[in-house]
Amino acid sequence: MLPNNRQYPNSRMRRTRMHAWSRALVQESQLSPQNLILPCFIIAGSNQKIAIKTMPGVYRLSIDNMLLLAKEAASLGIKAIAIFPVIEQRLKTAAGEEALNPDNLVIKAIKSIKDAGINIGIITDIALDPYTDHGHDGLLKNGDVDNDSTVEVLCNQALLQAEAGCDILAPSDMQDGRIGAIRSTLEEHNFTNTMILSYAAKYSSNFYAPFREALTSDLSSTKKDKNSYQQDPANTDEAMHEVLLDINEGADIIMIKPALSYLDIIYRVKTSYLMPTFAYHVSGEYSMLHLLATATAQDPLQLMLETLISIKRAGADAIITYAALDVAKHLQSK
Ligand code: PBG
Repeated sequence: MLPNNRQYPNSRMRRTRMHAWSRALVQESQLSPQNLILPCFIIAGSNQKIAIKTMPGVYRLSIDNMLLLAKEAASLGIKAIAIFPVIEQRLKTAAGEEALNPDNLVIKAIKSIKDAGINIGIITDIALDPYTDHGHDGLLKNGDVDNDSTVEVLCNQALLQAEAGCDILAPSDMQDGRIGAIRSTLEEHNFTNTMILSYAAKYSSNFYAPFREALTSDLSSTKKDKNSYQQDPANTDEAMHEVLLDINEGADIIMIKPALSYLDIIYRVKTSYLMPTFAYHVSGEYSMLHLLATATAQDPLQLMLETLISIKRAGADAIITYAALDVAKHLQSK
């Protein structure tokens, strides 16, 4: 509670704002490379670096180039990398079988980071959308994603990635019961220390559009939205239920996604559940800041810093952001 006798001129808010050093002393939230997670799109082949039209400065990298990026990130103090595979069109099927290929792109990437001895945590998505020709996160039945058969496949996908050495499994599929099912599968197979980062409150958002372009994920041939499994942007209580379920089912860390339009959700979840809480500053949020920077001749970095600190201030412990490398470089040079 604020004292009620704070009045001008006894109180001049500008006193502490006068100097850079006093502003620093009273600063309440800080960004650090250790709270940033770097997402990385990977493709087959070697020596590949392919631009993504809608995401300036973000590339699809072959594993050799991904290793260089992971090394650079680690040297800047970034603690984890989140890997997203861009699967060749010829390997995409209705049931996304490539997800269970023990030698698929993600498995190769996990093993190569471990083999290279890079000191960085590995996060991989659990969901089928990179592998399905219809672009949905699970198996379709009567034109919609079928919950329970999808969860079975996700458990196998999770086990495969855990076996390859993944540190943090991140189910982003939004099926019911998948955290509990994956946790039991891991326990049964003695992966007792593999973490689960649940995309617990994941909204059905238009801000994912650049990501879907990056993955060449095409929803146009079938159901065009993910509204039957991702959350309605109008709802808050529903997010609280989702997150509580995932905590009870065995999630170690929970995530809110997107971040900027959902700061109230981050705040409410963090203050209510006191759990490690991450936020995903998603592709569209990144792209729009670049577009604004270009349109108004500003440095995108300053827009990123302001956005990321707002996510931190709302209560996020760590943030997945495509700006992680640029921001970490800036923080290190300060
Ligand atoms: C898919 C997945 C998506 C993102 C991460 N995992 C897209 C979607 O749900 O359609 C979006 C990330 C971003 O936009 O940066 N399971």
